[in-house]
Amino acid sequence: MESDVENQNGNLDEVIEAVAPDPEIRPEECLGIEHTDPCTIVIMGATGDLTARKLLPALFNLYLNDGLPVPFQIVGCGRTQLNDQQFRRMMEKALTRANRMDSSKWPAFSSALHYQSVDYGNPASFENLTVLLTTLDQEHHTQGNLIQILNGYVDGNEEENGNGWSRLVVEKPFGKDLQTAVDLNRNIREYFQEHQIFRIDHYMAKETVQNILMFRFANSIFEPIWNRRYIEHVSIIASETLGVEHRAGYYEQAGILRDMFQNHMMQLLALTTMEPPSLFEPDRVRDERVKVFRSLRPFPVEKLNEHIILGQYGSGKIDGKPVPAYREEPEVNPDSLIPTFARMKVYIDNWRWQGVPFFITSGKRLAEKTTQIAIQFKEVPHSMFRQTIDGAITANRLILGISPDEKITLTFQTKNPGAQMCLRSVTMDFLYHKNYTGPKLDAYEKVLIDCMLGDQMLFWRQDGVEHCWSFLTPVLSECETCDSRVEMLHTYESGGWGPSAQHILI
Ligand code: BG6
Repeated sequence: MESDVENQNGNLDEVIEAVAPDPEIRPEECLGIEHTDPCTIVIMGATGDLTARKLLPALFNLYLNDGLPVPFQIVGCGRTQLNDQQFRRMMEKALTRANRMDSSKWPAFSSALHYQSVDYGNPASFENLTVLLTTLDQEHHTQGNLIQILNGYVDGNEEENGNGWSRLVVEKPFGKDLQTAVDLNRNIREYFQEHQIFRIDHYMAKETVQNILMFRFANSIFEPIWNRRYIEHVSIIASETLGVEHRAGYYEQAGILRDMFQNHMMQLLALTTMEPPSLFEPDRVRDERVKVFRSLRPFPVEKLNEHIILGQYGSGKIDGKPVPAYREEPEVNPDSLIPTFARMKVYIDNWRWQGVPFFITSGKRLAEKTTQIAIQFKEVPHSMFRQTIDGAITANRLILGISPDEKITLTFQTKNPGAQMCLRSVTMDFLYHKNYTGPKLDAYEKVLIDCMLGDQMLFWRQDGVEHCWSFLTPVLSECETCDSRVEMLHTYESGGWGPSAQHILI
């Protein structure tokens, strides 16, 4: 016999739909690229790696998706002597290499590309640049709006002048310790106010990283258990298969702690643990992120070995191909003590997180490229199945997959089908892009758009930079000067999961 519900309404699904709000996502409503003001974008260090690999592909892709303002102009600057044509050819090659070329659109885009060679120590050089910018502004009507993307150098003459806005985009590293970060900021602040400064962290602009706050604060069921009462520990991992590539000059100064921990890993930690602001508004969100950094328990440098594992990759195989050890990479010191792997245990001293360890791991030349945040929940407080089921009951785990697997998975226990009482762990998956067909922005496209819009939500604020350095500088200086520096650095085989010693932390 049919139930009354089915009689009146056709079928059960329709009844459920009728009482529940429409769960459908309408992607076309959420990702429109908003209107941006005309502007000129100046890239300092334009012949470098970042421009070829990230900035130019991002700008070109925005252009293809009508995401750049109309009109726009792009001026590359660098020490190398090039003319516009040579610069355009260089960029064309970079796009082709990155498989991002669309030859039908390139001619129009490239006509907005210009080049000015700059001697960074010579003020006359900047006068020439100013003349070029004024001419372009007059010819192309970019309304005096200017974005400077800085790749290691500071030009200093760009206060907002009433003719338009002026913004500075700064790529990491923001210093190499607390003091140099303060000094760098002092230099920048001679010419720019904080609201004009956009310190990039491309991790924050990844879709799945932006999603962390949506997931936590647009759902009511996770937040009540997102704390020390229910969570055993949290692991944040960013592993890479790539080695140092051709960046030895930078990496030999930075190492994994400055390259990944001082920025990306700290932001992942902050987004996972911060309190909800009263409004989703740039400075309120940034305030909450900074409060996490302020609550980091000072690192017990006297017990370094119990809280940090450092490693450096030896030779090995990645994707079945032999790869050299870090010390054999071009331009790396053959006796280098620079770590390419770190695993750190940190605590956040506040009511929500007291006593919960956060294991933060990142390394190069590991088995897999993956970034994820794993929330390990506590075991059930008491097992009523103890007489029926052998062994402990596996605790729940929630994984926020950041990249390349963009997904969220929740693992829980169910009854295994059959006559015998057995449990099995099953996983519920959400794939971030499933059922979504709209446009996608990669992280650099998102940061460039936000900078054009003047939205600082996904950028570092100086107080955050300094709090993180305050936490990390003593760790770095202890690791770099202690007597056991050599013994502390474990060599690990490329293509594995890092030093075997890393289990000691758990
Ligand atoms: C950069 C680091 O900031 O991030 C690199 O300097 C690292 O060393 C890269 O390879 C990782 O970024 P992603 O987006 O590939 O995880």
